[in-house]
Amino acid sequence: MNTVIKTFTLVALMATGVFAVESVTASKNGFTQSYSNLTSDEIDRHMLGKSFFRIPWVEAPSATTARDGLGPLFNANSCISCHPNNAQGSVYTKDGLISRSMVARLSIDANDSLQHQQYMQQQGFVPDEVYGGQLSINGVKDVPYEGKLKITYEEKPIQYPDGSVVYLRVPTYELIELNYGKLNANTSISVRKAPALIGLGWVDQISDEAILANEDVEDKNHDGISGKANRVYSFEKKGFAVGKYTYKASVPTVKNQIANAFHNDMSLTTKFHLKDNCTKTQKACLNAPKAYDAIDVPNNRLDAIDFYLKTLKIPVVESKNQEGKALFDALGCASCHIPSFKTNNKERVYIYSDFLLHDMGDALSDGRVEFDAQKSEWRTAPLWGINSLEKAIGKAVDYLHDGRARSLEEAILWHGGEALNAKNSFMHLTKKQRESLIEFLGEL
Ligand code: HEC
Ligand code: HEC
Repeated sequence: MNTVIKTFTLVALMATGVFAVESVTASKNGFTQSYSNLTSDEIDRHMLGKSFFRIPWVEAPSATTARDGLGPLFNANSCISCHPNNAQGSVYTKDGLISRSMVARLSIDANDSLQHQQYMQQQGFVPDEVYGGQLSINGVKDVPYEGKLKITYEEKPIQYPDGSVVYLRVPTYELIELNYGKLNANTSISVRKAPALIGLGWVDQISDEAILANEDVEDKNHDGISGKANRVYSFEKKGFAVGKYTYKASVPTVKNQIANAFHNDMSLTTKFHLKDNCTKTQKACLNAPKAYDAIDVPNNRLDAIDFYLKTLKIPVVESKNQEGKALFDALGCASCHIPSFKTNNKERVYIYSDFLLHDMGDALSDGRVEFDAQKSEWRTAPLWGINSLEKAIGKAVDYLHDGRARSLEEAILWHGGEALNAKNSFMHLTKKQRESLIEFLGEL
């Protein structure tokens, strides 16, 4: 009798994905704790996903056939190496080298050709012909890596009306040590830092309708802010879906993104990406030894990682900072960083994002289009888990898509485009008010 009830409960849970929002207090392990109400079967799945998220993959041929197939061209050998403690990467390592969690995405502007239009429909961008969609900084034996990223910062002073000055670091990106010839002059380099993996189970539970309800593409309410959802290709649906994940919201589901990560970052095949990421001209890459199995990461492992990432607690503390919160609302930050959503399970989660794209101005443009996301458009960054970031990565946090902001204050000062008014209002606050707002953000 007991077992029958237990099985029934499990089925009900799996069918609806009902878990209560569970949070942990800020700590080093803020991003790595599993839900406490998992059944023993669920714990097994969570642990399986966790192990595949953390293990280093190895190149073929290898005796370890269960986790071979890394490369030929790749960026890192495990998920965790770019998402340390499930939190975010940084620009530099502790030794001052450019971190591998800084990924350089490559693309060219689409023309009207059939080939380009097909790329736009399926991938949302047109890759560089020689180097593909992402620069690989590593290669297996006998396959030269593609190149390395070089970052140059220029310090630019910003003065508040009250006279105080903050310096922003303005990045210039270049590719060096290129092993497959010069980069096409028309190829744009979009640099992105690995984001923290927070509350993905909750984002999954936000319906398309709830996101679309906040769209205002024509800015009908004349607040200068025109949120737009990204409509992107879904491998699972084999059709279009609302994009929720990655910096330009160009990926519709967590599982889709896990498969993309395996493909782009490690060159491991899945049922969604059947081939390694070599381009046509990269002969050594195309001829490199293949892994033992036809598909490096079978579907049940993708599912396990998906389950793992969706059953992690959220590092949230309740902010008691009423003044900071009031300023956040008054300045219009909350127009894009919408404080909360009600999920499909009717739970309220505090995410501080609308999951829509906004034009953030030329200074933040990366020259790259992804489906409907234009060059200067970005998904509103969710503002949660900030309280635990520094503890989780053990050093100062770099903010914004490419980590150019060294503090929350710098991140705000980079806001432009649709967020220019909010930024200007922030600059006109008193020093004490600015500190209060930043303190509030730091507690989220
Ligand atoms: C080389 C570094 C690197 C590795 C390795 C890596 N990631 Fe990422 N990850 C990134 C970057 C950079 C982004 C942002 C991508 C973008 O905006 O296009 C990202 C984004 C994500 C996201 C989207 C999060 C969100 O909230 O939108 C998920 C989920 C994710 N990665 C999971 C994984 C998994 C699972 C693995 C291992 C299979 C992995 N990553 C391996 C760098 C990495
Ligand atoms: C028009 C929409 C919009 C408005 C208004 C807006 N933001 Fe943002 N915010 C964004 C987007 C989009 C990003 C991501 C930009 C990027 O990564 O390049 C972002 C990023 C941030 C970040 C960095 C988060 C991270 O994890 O890197 C902080 C902090 C932030 N916003 C705070 C604020 C505050 C405070 C205000 C009000 C003064 C505000 N924002 C107003 C859209 C907006």
